[in-house]
Amino acid sequence: MINKKGVFITFEGGEGTGKSTQSKLLYDYFNKKNINSILTREPGGCKESEEIRNLLVNGEINKWDPITEALLHNAARKEHIKQIIKPTLLQNKIVICDRFIDSTMAYQGVGLGVSSSFLNTLSKEITENIKPDMTFIFDIDIDISLKRVKKRDKNNMNRYEKFDQSFHSNIREYFRSLINTEERYILIDASKSIEEIHLQITNYINLLIN
Ligand code: TMP
Repeated sequence: MINKKGVFITFEGGEGTGKSTQSKLLYDYFNKKNINSILTREPGGCKESEEIRNLLVNGEINKWDPITEALLHNAARKEHIKQIIKPTLLQNKIVICDRFIDSTMAYQGVGLGVSSSFLNTLSKEITENIKPDMTFIFDIDIDISLKRVKKRDKNNMNRYEKFDQSFHSNIREYFRSLINTEERYILIDASKSIEEIHLQITNYINLLIN
C-alpha cells in the first residue's frame, strides 16, 4: 500500500509511561497492514545521534550545564532530521518517533530552566519546518511510573531517571499542559492496559491517515 503522504507521529511523556512499548506496537500494526513506516527515537535514531545519546543518558545528573545539554539534544536532532526523518517523510512514509522537540521543552526547558525563547530559536533553525502531525502524550501518576522504572533495572538507571521526584512531577505537568494548545496533542491515560491503549492509538491514527 502507498501512503497518501509522509506522516510524522511522536510519542512523548515521562519515564516508565509505556510509550516505547506502544510505539513498537504501532510499528508492528503498520507492518501487518503493509503500510510503509519506520520506528526511530530521540536522542538517537542514526549512528552519530546515538553517539550523542550516550553522552546525554550516561553519567551523573549535573555533568552538563543545561545550555550545553540543550545544544547536545539539538545537535543529535539535527543529524536525525537530516539523515532519517526528512528523507523518510519525503518518500511518503510514516515516521514514528519515540520523543522529539516536546521532550526538549519539557526536560531542558521546564526541568533544567533553559529559556523557552532560546529553545524555540534553536528548534526553528534545526527542524527545517518539520513538525509532528500527531503527538501522543503518555500520562500517569509519578509514583507509578517511577516505581516501574526502578523495577526495570535498579542498578542501571539512565541519567534522567536519577532526577528527583519534583523534577519528574514538573515534567508531567508540562506535558499535561500541552493538551488543547495544538490539535496534534492526544492525551493517553497510561494507567490503562497495553491493549486498550494500543486500540485507542490505532483509532486516532486511522482518522489521521485515511
Ligand atoms: P528514553 O529514550 O529512555 O526515554 O531516554 C531518553 C532520555 O532523554 C529521557 O529521559 C528524556 C531525555 N530527553 C531530554 O532530556 N531531552 C530531549 O530532547 C529528548 C529527546 C530526551
